[in-house]
Amino acid sequence: MRTIIEPFRIKTVEPIGMSTLPEREEALRRVHWNLFLLRATEITIDLLTDSGTGAMSSRQWAALMEGDESYAGARSWERFEAAVKDIYGFRHVIPTHQGRAAERILAQTMIRPGQVVISNTHFDTTRANVEAAGATAIDIPIPEARQPRVEHPFKGNMDTDALEALIAEHGREKIALVLLTITNNSGGGQPVSLANVRKVSEICRSHGIPFYLDACRFAENAWFIKTREEGQQDRAPIDIAREVFSYADGCTMSAKKDAIVNIGGFLCTNDDDLARRMRDLLILTEGFPTYGGLAGRDLEAIAVGLYEGLEEDYLRYRIASTKYVADRLHEAGVPVLRPPGGHAVFIDAAAMLPHVPPLQFPGQAVACELYRVGGIRACEIGSVMFASRDPETGEERPAPLELVRLAIPRRVYTQSHMDYVIEAAAEVLANREKLRGMKITYQAPFLRHFTARFEPL
Ligand code: F0G
Repeated sequence: MRTIIEPFRIKTVEPIGMSTLPEREEALRRVHWNLFLLRATEITIDLLTDSGTGAMSSRQWAALMEGDESYAGARSWERFEAAVKDIYGFRHVIPTHQGRAAERILAQTMIRPGQVVISNTHFDTTRANVEAAGATAIDIPIPEARQPRVEHPFKGNMDTDALEALIAEHGREKIALVLLTITNNSGGGQPVSLANVRKVSEICRSHGIPFYLDACRFAENAWFIKTREEGQQDRAPIDIAREVFSYADGCTMSAKKDAIVNIGGFLCTNDDDLARRMRDLLILTEGFPTYGGLAGRDLEAIAVGLYEGLEEDYLRYRIASTKYVADRLHEAGVPVLRPPGGHAVFIDAAAMLPHVPPLQFPGQAVACELYRVGGIRACEIGSVMFASRDPETGEERPAPLELVRLAIPRRVYTQSHMDYVIEAAAEVLANREKLRGMKITYQAPFLRHFTARFEPL
């Protein structure tokens, strides 16, 4: 088979930060080994997130010039609404500045204190918005999702037996909604099958429970359905996406992912009364319902990007390039989460540094070493981010997994950039016995990973 090439050529370039080893060692000391605190110019390859970091196409840049900045009823709004309705098919489209703004409006209009929300896995901002509305967020991924090296084509699926059991336990009234995240970011960017979406929908409809999708990476999810699910091979990703949405009552969307824009999001619902209440809240904090916190030009870029994110050539390259990184790392002996997901590759830092106990943060040690050797910024997703405290003793308990996420921005880096990342990771692996854990010297009371300070042990 031939190399799957980037299905675009480069029209505009942006220099990236090139640095020396002593400069990077000095930078690490200055930021107390917290990679969030680096200047972006100090980074050579930035794999912190795939959110808002994509490269827009020439068609999107051209669409920007069509931006109609009228406060109300702009042409850009009409084009945006038409694109969202064409692909998603919901009755009401409510624009927001990004995904979490849509989540907040959803949570504050749909959830009463004391209720529960059930998901395959809530993303952190989703969980925080559910909890801020006074509800409990429950995650029920299939059991395979918790085993880093077990191969399964749809590791993002929800455990539907557990869903029925939760409905029996709590009763319909106590369940505000069911929210399925496609693809499941926190579970490793793993896809959800069409069969699972259909089954979850059937269960929700039979009990009268609202069923919503967190649709950030819906196009990547459609590609996995096309290539992995029986009978789906001959369908266009856009048709698969339309079918997925047809089973839900609405969705939240961060356009910063699969719509390949730098800012934007929206909320959809089929419920007329709910949509009225959502728009009331929107006006209070985001803006008038025909722009919702976005410029007309942002709406234009999303309207174009939604279709580009669903193009077959793009998706084939996108998923192949993520798999390329995961497979090369795996061959080099770097333990990675299997199978590779859509938007990111996850290094299993606990397996890479078995001599570093979880509460000495092996993920942080690997992430800092990747920066030290190659100027690469990745993100620890382990006990720095998700350790909990024993409610009785206050003792710190490690997170279930110690991962380092290499999130891949869309259409930004070429295969040679990724080869460089693979070489740097192999160097980290070769030095692993010399790597030590970290201790925290300062931490905030919540969301500590953003501002914590560390010291190597
Ligand atoms: N839902 C999922 C599944 C996400 O991955 C994100 C963001 C959001 C909701 C929130 O959207 O950032 O536009 O407010 N994920 C980014 C990440 C931040 O790095 O994974 P937002």
